[in-house]
Amino acid sequence: MKILFYDAKPYDCDSFESIRKERYADLEMTFLQADISVHTASLAKGFDAVCVFVASEVGRDVLGRLKEVGVRLLLLRCAGYNNVDLQAAEQAGITVMRVPGYSPEAVAEHAMALALTVGRRIHKSYIKVRENNFSLVGLIGKNFYGKTAGIIGTGKIGAAMCRICHGFGMKVLANDAYENPDLDFVQYVSLDELLRHSDMISLHCPLTDETRHLICSDSIAKMKDGIILINTSRGALIRTEDLIAGIRDRKFFGVGLDVYEEENRNVFENREDDILESSVTARLLSFPNVVITSHQGFLTEEALYAIAVTTAENALSYEKGKPIQENLVKA
Ligand code: NAI
Repeated sequence: MKILFYDAKPYDCDSFESIRKERYADLEMTFLQADISVHTASLAKGFDAVCVFVASEVGRDVLGRLKEVGVRLLLLRCAGYNNVDLQAAEQAGITVMRVPGYSPEAVAEHAMALALTVGRRIHKSYIKVRENNFSLVGLIGKNFYGKTAGIIGTGKIGAAMCRICHGFGMKVLANDAYENPDLDFVQYVSLDELLRHSDMISLHCPLTDETRHLICSDSIAKMKDGIILINTSRGALIRTEDLIAGIRDRKFFGVGLDVYEEENRNVFENREDDILESSVTARLLSFPNVVITSHQGFLTEEALYAIAVTTAENALSYEKGKPIQENLVKA
């Protein structure tokens, strides 16, 4: 099977090439830096499948072009599929497959890394010490031991975050419609209770109509003063204007964001020469107690390996006429 990879970064090429050499020699892989679009879709002529990532827009026009050039399979090397027009894919006879889970611990560990960074001012001390400034002024942190963590959403990633917080000696509160029976050390409470009693809140629920702007001025008002807030889930869970107002009111000890509204233009791109005009990102970056990373929660060697293997298995299972059912995405 011949697969054309779009928007391939060096780490994608490395992880896919290494698993191909290891045990998937039957798969022919070609990597393109360009992302998929109505203009670049025709480059897939002669390929059986194309592989794209979370930020690629695969709409009706792109799928139409892929059908014209004979592509039969769209491989998503990610879990999310809201970037694909599934009805158009079905009409074009193109099968869509994804990687539903790869390493929940990768994202949960990144969430804790952000919490510790803002909680211990690591981002400030890193820069100060590099400038030979060994003063401790402005670096006072907070212990996590004995404090209360509030985890919103206890699916795969939220559960991993609960375990990490428990390991730190924190009391763990959680909010989710479905209580995870494996988490016997967790106390499930209402969202209001979680907001009122937590010292650190970490968001791990999906973005839905119900959860959009879950964190807004109302919910921020209910939080303890000096709260640490972490979001590695989806940017629009937080109403950024309200977050900025809360930061200005000195509500937060620290805020760690791996995702944020308006991230789509930035994510995975080098924009170091651009001037970020009227940008929410630029305003957030102006605060000393905010740390932002670029949607890298998933980016570990282990997760990349798991993504590559599952994508290769998806391709082979399709080729054999028995696509892995739980990895199929249907309209
Ligand atoms: P999951 O589907 O295993 O768990 C989500 C949990 O959220 C479920 O238990 C569900 O019942 C709960 N939930 C849904 N609505 C809720 C609400 N209104 N309030 C409280 N809980 C609610 O998903 P998983 O794998 O744990 O992923 C969580 C999120 O992490 C994803 O939706 C995605 O947005 C994000 N993610 C971020 C990555 C990154 O690189 N930063 C990588 C992968 C996922």
